[in-house]
Amino acid sequence: MGRTLCPAICFTMTDPTAPIGVFDSGVGGLTVARALLHLLPGERLLYFADTAHVPYGPRPPEQIKDFALDISAFLIEQGAKAVIMGCNTSSAVALEPARESHGPLIFGVIQPGAKAALRATRKSRIGVIATQATVSTAAYSSALRGLKPALEVIEQPCPEFVPLVEKGELNSAHTRQVTNGYLEPVLQFGVDTVVLGCTQYPLLRPLIQEIAGPEITLIDPAEETAKEVAAALREAKLVNPGTPDASAHRFFASGDPTSIKTVGARFLGQPIENIESASLWK
Ligand code: DGL
Repeated sequence: MGRTLCPAICFTMTDPTAPIGVFDSGVGGLTVARALLHLLPGERLLYFADTAHVPYGPRPPEQIKDFALDISAFLIEQGAKAVIMGCNTSSAVALEPARESHGPLIFGVIQPGAKAALRATRKSRIGVIATQATVSTAAYSSALRGLKPALEVIEQPCPEFVPLVEKGELNSAHTRQVTNGYLEPVLQFGVDTVVLGCTQYPLLRPLIQEIAGPEITLIDPAEETAKEVAAALREAKLVNPGTPDASAHRFFASGDPTSIKTVGARFLGQPIENIESASLWK
């Protein structure tokens, strides 16, 4: 991957009105963006969807890391005061390298998700559904056992979910059948809590909850991540005091913008019309 990173900017940013960068392979990071805007409605977004490379899940970790570092650098160059990896797969492989390159105001979703799951479980048995790449790093098991070594954790890859969500197939007969198959081993393991360990999965939440049953607590790491980011911005006195302004958000797509325009806009609850084309890897 051929971009030069831009360590010079390195979060010397002290302007609270600067935007917050959020990125993902597709629409998933909007779950984090939405949770953040709920807590800090005056913030302006720079949202980057790497639709040229979605899905990340089947890709090798080194490649995902390169994408994540390049996108973080791009968002910083565009003036972001903080960057959120609204993507578990990137957070699993690239959070530490990105912090080394760009400083501490880079946030991931895995540690916050693990903390929320630990708070929720009563039986100390937790399921994590995630992409193949996230499961192969065992990032959630490590984060969870780092918080409480005695936890029993099962991680289940769900490779079909991201393409289905990006297509907007949130409740088709096929999606239902696939969801049943993925959840079966997790439920048989006796979990009481399931982490939605990929940011596209909260869009399937109603279906997952229906199949898992009401006694299973679903954890959306986006909510906890948003709380951590909000707390860090408050502490750094970098909260935007402005009023909500949907027209101040900017959206970038490295490839096809359709999923952002359709599924994403529906999810975020606002039209997303002007998606800027950002081909970082020409
Ligand atoms: N939304 C990302 C995640 O949370 C990436 C999913 C993918 O593109 O496979 O893992």
